[in-house]
Amino acid sequence: MQSVPETQNPVDMSLAEICEYMSEGIAIFDAEATLRLANSSFHQKHPNLSDVLKPGIPWSIFLREAVNRGTMPLPVSQRLDALEAELATAGTRSDAVQMPGVQGRTATLRLGQTSDGGFVLTHTENPPPADDADAVRDAEILLRKVLEACPRSLIMSRVTDGRIIYRSPAATDLLGSAKSSFSHFTHREERADFITLLLPDAIVDNMRVTFRRADQTEFPAEISARLIDYRGEDVIVATVEDLTQELAIKAEMDRQKEQLFQSEKLSALGELLAAVAHELNNPLSIIVGNAEILHEEIADDGLKRRVGKLSQAAHRCVRIIRSFLSLARQEPLDLRPTELSKLIENALEAASNDTEAAKIKMHTAPYTNEPLVIADEVQLTQVIINLLSNAIQAMRDAGIGDQITIERSWNDRSLTIRVTDNGPGISDDIKTRIFDPLFTTKDAGKGTGVGLAYCHRIIAAHKGQIRLEHTARRGATFSVELPLA
Ligand SMILES: Nc1ncnc2c1ncn2[C@@H]1O[C@H](COP(=O)(O)OP(=O)(O)O)[C@@H](O)[C@H]1O
Ligand SMILES: [Mg+2]
Repeated sequence: MQSVPETQNPVDMSLAEICEYMSEGIAIFDAEATLRLANSSFHQKHPNLSDVLKPGIPWSIFLREAVNRGTMPLPVSQRLDALEAELATAGTRSDAVQMPGVQGRTATLRLGQTSDGGFVLTHTENPPPADDADAVRDAEILLRKVLEACPRSLIMSRVTDGRIIYRSPAATDLLGSAKSSFSHFTHREERADFITLLLPDAIVDNMRVTFRRADQTEFPAEISARLIDYRGEDVIVATVEDLTQELAIKAEMDRQKEQLFQSEKLSALGELLAAVAHELNNPLSIIVGNAEILHEEIADDGLKRRVGKLSQAAHRCVRIIRSFLSLARQEPLDLRPTELSKLIENALEAASNDTEAAKIKMHTAPYTNEPLVIADEVQLTQVIINLLSNAIQAMRDAGIGDQITIERSWNDRSLTIRVTDNGPGISDDIKTRIFDPLFTTKDAGKGTGVGLAYCHRIIAAHKGQIRLEHTARRGATFSVELPLA
């Protein structure tokens, strides 16, 4: 502690002593604004002003020298001077003035009026900013809050044994709480691939894997990861995204695209077919007509037989061309609210000769409150007959299956008719082609490949949809979806 500075006009010694014990820097000025006393702490705070901080030094000199010798910035001294001028009117204590201090700290300077018309300048070091430990704790709290709120599923796990070190709440929601990240990979090879990708560059982005939750359910996922060193161990920080919804949307979009492509292709093919059939119609009728005349006029038996074969073949061509034309013909639809039970009965009736011959049973259940659909009764009946005869032919030709079921279901917008057989079914490699005009697996003369193309065209004109459904069982199910009346 420094000794009490010499006093020219000594103040009460007990006051000087008290001032010495204070950590605050204190400088007392009298009514003439000359220094009376500056305590040791004040000296310490203005280290190179010791020759100035003597009793009798005017306030203005103190301020000027403090600025000149670098213990006080100019704006601070100006502000203090202004505050000193206001002291008499502003009350006993001035506003605080902040000043940069040592080691990044700041100091607060303040003026206070004394009862004898003088004033006191106090100089206080502000407490240090929150120390490092506090800063670390604050950063931790911040980090934790960010992680807890983070909507992404974040997992931190050890490379060596997969032990999960951290899991964000979103990750717990998505995956449950397993101990090891190993168990989240459905396929071990995928985890191996993931690690193989991660180790060289410490980065994996958007890798597709199948993930398994703690409850053993699985989902398609995308994983991105970084490899870091944490307490001397290799640790994976990964985000996992559930792709279920995204993939479902993509599949639906693909399906719609495929459907659009299919119907465009079908209508283009249909037009071509119609044009060709139309052109063939006239020359063919000449062949048919003349073959018949020849057949009647020729006496030679051998020749007669040959002409007869010619005529038969020409007739077959006519039948085929007619069916092509019926496919192509844009019969105007007579759309009206239609009751299905009667229509389906008619279709079953039309197919009954064939089914009886092939010993195939047909079932349909009566439905109560079945809504009406918007349909052309005649053409829709043809569609159902087509589906029935395809099923009958498939079962008969393959010698597999013995029943056909027609079911209906509906929601508030549409009704779906399902025609199901337990025949041979349709193999995957031709599934996408069965609606193509002219596609048939049947022998020449038996099939034309027009039936399903016709059905597709009619149902599309109804603003409905016809599909081959996926079934786990043997057999085939065709569905026809129609808008409600
Ligand atoms: N219910 C069914 N079961 C098995 N195959 C079927 C069935 N319905 C249609 N198919 C297949 O679809 C093809 C196309 O049918 P379609 O367009 O009616 O022409 P077609 O009956 O003249 O062959 C058939 O040749 C057959 O291979
Ligand atoms: Mg057919």
